[in-house]
Amino acid sequence: MTLAGKEIILGVTGSIAAYKAVYLLRELVRLGAGVNVVLTEHAQKFVGPLTFRTLSGRPVLTDLFDPQTDAAVEHVELANRCHALIVAPATANLLAKAAHGIADDFLTTLLLATRAPVLIAPAMDAGMWDHPAVVANVATLRARGVTVLEPDAGELASRLAGKGRLPEIDAILETLQRLLSPLRDLAGQRLLITAGPTREPIDPVRYLSNRSSGKMGYALALAGLRRGAEVVLVSGPTSQSPPAGAVFVPVETAEEMREAVLQHLAWATIVIKAAAVADYRAREANAAKIKSKQDGLTLELAATPDILKEVAARKGDQFVVGFAAETHEVKRHAREKLEAKRIDLIVANDVSQKGIGFEADDNQVTLLDRWGGAIELPRMPKLDVANAVLDRILALGAAKPAKVPR
Ligand code: PMT
Repeated sequence: MTLAGKEIILGVTGSIAAYKAVYLLRELVRLGAGVNVVLTEHAQKFVGPLTFRTLSGRPVLTDLFDPQTDAAVEHVELANRCHALIVAPATANLLAKAAHGIADDFLTTLLLATRAPVLIAPAMDAGMWDHPAVVANVATLRARGVTVLEPDAGELASRLAGKGRLPEIDAILETLQRLLSPLRDLAGQRLLITAGPTREPIDPVRYLSNRSSGKMGYALALAGLRRGAEVVLVSGPTSQSPPAGAVFVPVETAEEMREAVLQHLAWATIVIKAAAVADYRAREANAAKIKSKQDGLTLELAATPDILKEVAARKGDQFVVGFAAETHEVKRHAREKLEAKRIDLIVANDVSQKGIGFEADDNQVTLLDRWGGAIELPRMPKLDVANAVLDRILALGAAKPAKVPR
């Protein structure tokens, strides 16, 4: 393994495991990386800057407003220049700040400013790692594409045993290596992805919709981009931020989604429909607001267009993937959809289960393909599910891309 030519930022926070960051720094330097160390105020109470300065051969960054340096300006350049940012050890406090975008010191400011891969190696006392607040913060970070390692289990500084030890240095280095040489196995592929719900208006203020957050579709877009694909993301209204690099096409209704999908269909090599399209719309949306508190209001509904079916009917060489949101007999119903819509692969999720499917950060899916294959995956963060879906598409032989204008 070599890190020659790589610029790494090593952030160290206030944990007893801060001394292990010294060994990590030594390894990074030995492997050829240029390392800028950033210490939080509390980290300095465990290990002083001089140790890190001596080993890295560079000034150690501690104060964003250091009058001796132009640190406040420098952080932007540093963030742009680095190939990866590691935080080791990361306290529960750092995880909380990173998850919520708080930038109140040098390290947290860098975390917001950088677009390089971020690798967080937590260390904390027994019980803290399992606290619902920490669990939620880790899930938020992972959903955003940050790599948060699991701490090791064993005896902790408090003499208690549990999960909370800083992961082994080898594990941190191995993960760093993977982040620095990402798979480019989708280079040349053009992914057309739909995400989120659609909204079908009833009147100017009300609509029919569903609970899709868009997380699954946005995770697919992020995973595709990271693996070298071009991505068009057609999305219903969500609070997710489109990943940098995707062509973002916001839509509201099923009809608008249909138009956007058909417009990009010839361009795409792979179509993935993770959106939860509303199945019905009001046959006539009222131009004026329907009066409140009417007793027994009747709405006449009409079916929305089945976009996936139309895509499959009109497609050329594209590999077409649908999702199936089911509440019972998941695999049977999903396979029926796969066959009825004549698509290549369907990702079946049981949306009756808590913690997966709609709105959740995790999903647990079965991949059913038109050649009879069925792969049941464990529960994982949606970004991992997205990568597994992309792996499967490649394994099933998505057509090699040819140049097609958008
Ligand atoms: O967005 P999240 O909160 O992350 O949740 C993810 C998810 C649960 C929404 C996602 O994993 C999922 O299952 N998406 C598909 C939901 C759905 O609409 O399933 P369905 O079984 O009703 O539809 C089957 C397929 O047909 C889907 O690919 C859907 O996009 C497509 N469809 C459905 C109706 C329609 N009118 N047009 C379509 O193209």
